Amino acid sequence: MASGRHVQAGVVGDRRANRHPPRRRDAAAWVFGYGSLIWRVDFPYRERRRAVVAGWARRFWQGSRDHRGTPRAPGRVVTLIPAARAECVGVAYRVDASVLAHLDHREKDGYERVGVEIRTAVGVVDGITYIAPAGNPGFLGPAAPDVLAAQILHAVGPSGTNREYLRELAAALRRLDADDAHVHVLLEALAANNGG
Ligand code: SIN
Repeated sequence: MASGRHVQAGVVGDRRANRHPPRRRDAAAWVFGYGSLIWRVDFPYRERRRAVVAGWARRFWQGSRDHRGTPRAPGRVVTLIPAARAECVGVAYRVDASVLAHLDHREKDGYERVGVEIRTAVGVVDGITYIAPAGNPGFLGPAAPDVLAAQILHAVGPSGTNREYLRELAAALRRLDADDAHVHVLLEALAANNGG
């Protein structure tokens, strides 16, 4: 987080301090988004890059009780599951550290910050991502595609329908030229359920 004024040693009490005001510490962070953070961007950022994180797979295994469903009828949203040979394509944002408080609130239902190495076309950066780990109170785990699609078809919460979440994510991944078989299968299952 920003620490306010930063005064260089040796400059304190020197008139030069007025001519060269102290620079704020660079309080920015990289955040990797792989779900709604790709397409619902309600926060400011300094930079945005297509990005890849290795060793994780995107799965609709997290229940959404506060955005795309309700506590009685949770929707299905994505989390990352450890998978040794998998790669997850998403977006990396360079944000001011103050933005993290907003994201912590937005992702509060089961997600926690996890440090990740993020690959982008112009280099590898260390950052964080929000993961809803197995065992959190909203975690639903795997189910057959038609079961997931039926749940997605009917769920709705304060942020909108669960169908919109799936469709918008699929469209955003297409724009990123990212092939995600799990998302694709769910989209097809949704269409087969007349929700497509
Ligand atoms: C993310 O988008 O990175 C986290 C999951 C979500 O909010 O959909």
